[in-house]
Amino acid sequence: MKKQWWHDKVAYQIYPKSFCDSNSDGIGDINGIISKLDYLKSLGVDIVWISPMYKSPFVDQGYDISDYYAIDEKFGTMEDFENLLAEAKKRDMYILMDLVVNHCSDEHEWFKKAMADPHGKYGDYFYIREGKDGKEPSNYRGYFGGNTWDKVPGEDNLYYFHAFHKRQPDLNWENPEVREEIYKMMNWWLDKGLRGFRIDAIINIKKNTLFPTYEPDGEDGLVRVTRNVEDADGINDFLREMKEKTFAPHNAFTVGEVFNLKKEDMVAFVGEDGHFSTMFDFTGEILDTGHRDWTDTSRIDFTEWRDLTFKSQAEMQDIGFLANIVENHDEPRGASRYLPEYACNDDGKKMLATAYIMLRGIPFIYQGQEIGMVNCPREDISCYDDIASHDRYNKAIGRGFTPAQALEACHRHSRDNARTPVHWDDSDNAGFTDGTPWAPVDKDYKEINVAKQEKDENSVLSYYKKLIALRKSPNYSERIVYGETIPVFTEEKMLFGYERKCETDTILVLCNFADKDITLDLTKLQKKYTKVLLSNKPVELCDKLVLTPAEALILD
Ligand code: NOJ
Repeated sequence: MKKQWWHDKVAYQIYPKSFCDSNSDGIGDINGIISKLDYLKSLGVDIVWISPMYKSPFVDQGYDISDYYAIDEKFGTMEDFENLLAEAKKRDMYILMDLVVNHCSDEHEWFKKAMADPHGKYGDYFYIREGKDGKEPSNYRGYFGGNTWDKVPGEDNLYYFHAFHKRQPDLNWENPEVREEIYKMMNWWLDKGLRGFRIDAIINIKKNTLFPTYEPDGEDGLVRVTRNVEDADGINDFLREMKEKTFAPHNAFTVGEVFNLKKEDMVAFVGEDGHFSTMFDFTGEILDTGHRDWTDTSRIDFTEWRDLTFKSQAEMQDIGFLANIVENHDEPRGASRYLPEYACNDDGKKMLATAYIMLRGIPFIYQGQEIGMVNCPREDISCYDDIASHDRYNKAIGRGFTPAQALEACHRHSRDNARTPVHWDDSDNAGFTDGTPWAPVDKDYKEINVAKQEKDENSVLSYYKKLIALRKSPNYSERIVYGETIPVFTEEKMLFGYERKCETDTILVLCNFADKDITLDLTKLQKKYTKVLLSNKPVELCDKLVLTPAEALILD
């Protein structure tokens, strides 16, 4: 495999509204990010992906862009942003922005012009169709609930399409002029020094533009909108063109948010000459979300998660690299989600980090994860900001959940769990702001915060630093970056154990997710492991190794 500059890098996601506020308005901003670059550097981070900061009405927290060429004033100015790029460069760090081009905001001038004249040039920037029999053109349920078609104002029988919220109209990728506008904008940012993009919801750009009506899959008479996307061929042509005209000439790093990828498209997406550098491995994220909605969710089954992760590692070995995550701004906190209750403590958090950061792929850490932040339940549904949470809550009630049950589901699954301010220290508002924070600060910030953990050699934060340092150490980096992942002791249902093997060199990773000891006979392995590289508990190596609950070990 041809080596690329980003293969051995560690990435970190910033959700800017909640990261660090420098001007006391209660909202995180660019100068706040700049003030924490040294902190990120000390953690070992190279690549920083920042969720959208473009001008936006913030209906979906910035994933609804009204001007692709402007920084929203909440976050600062273009000059601040350029300063961020320069400060990152000084530290050998790379900044990625979010590329949200499946849709824009209803406040984007293209959409305003399209609504004013649906048959004119800008009407063709969107999907505008006639209704059928006095109803919407087809029967799709959007990602945030409700029909994907809404009326063009002032028109009797014209509708525009939105896979997400009605204020996030989908852009018509079939129109070459739209594609050229998008590429122009991407190059404008890359020319400024942006190092790449995280690419939002990209599978949705190719649709079956006949928009057929399908068999409903719910009592609402609708069918999930992904049904249409699955029915569309030709996305590779769009993405090949996008890469040729933007990423390739800039040698950019790109990470795709891709759900429902057809297996046969894997190589085209992330193979050596793939459309993207990498894409997120969502193996774990899809396990507990429920097939239908919050009324049929379950807790993550550890063994299923482990085995599917190994399957995904094996599939990718000869193709390329996935980006490994345990949380992001759309998911609950990883510790609350993946750790059994008995292990939701510092040892468990270090174990979870060990299990996924040592895998093959590019590790992404989500802000606050490195100090072990957990879900932050709110008292009432009215205290939640996220549009998706409101939709899911209402659906759960509609399906017979009591308000208490629906709220409990919200506590576990809401996207707002990970969107609370980062805990920097134990001062008011966790040191996030001197003003009133836009979202509640979790009560546990006095115990879980950066300042405290920086001083503690045994903290979760210090452990993350050691893990990342190990990934990058000259003696081990080749194995950890490129080595094959070989599962071991899989008969132990609650053990996450694997070797990483490069030619004859290996390391062994063992994590005990069980609530009791697990004894392993290390002589059964082909290699003899003699050195502890990292562990979250004191350990003495011997052939019959006893791992206590939430114990994690990396051996050479
Ligand atoms: C995925 C983003 O991560 C999510 O936050 C957003 O709501 C949707 N795409 C729509 O852009």
